[in-house]
Amino acid sequence: MPLFIWTDALATGNSFMDDEHHLLVERVDAVLEAIAKGRASAALSSALNDLMDYTQEHFGHEEAQMLRINFADLEAHREDHASLLKQVDALKQELDAGHDISAMDLYNFLVRWVKNHIVNVDSQLAAALKEAPP
Ligand SMILES: [Fe+2]
Ligand SMILES: [Fe+2]
Repeated sequence: MPLFIWTDALATGNSFMDDEHHLLVERVDAVLEAIAKGRASAALSSALNDLMDYTQEHFGHEEAQMLRINFADLEAHREDHASLLKQVDALKQELDAGHDISAMDLYNFLVRWVKNHIVNVDSQLAAALKEAPP
């Protein structure tokens, strides 16, 4: 049973972003499921690597769109992406070092990590893309 699933609250109205956010949510869920099964597992490490790789890819796609439309908040959005990647990298290092993180703390951290950015930051890019020429 998935621990974290897509909901309409995450919809930005932009189909490319929403499609990629679906895939991001799936990867967050894979991390949560792995930790629920045992935190020292190779599956957790691989799920975190997948999440980081896909996050990087997705951020790159958004940043390319921001450049294309000369998005006014490009720098702030890019900084938020860099900070999110740093946070998940720090989490991975803590887990790799064997630090104890409860499944509930990890759930709260990752769900907030995804939701806050999509709702507060990506939604603004989606609105700007709607106004921009294709
Ligand atoms: Fe973003
Ligand atoms: Fe995004």
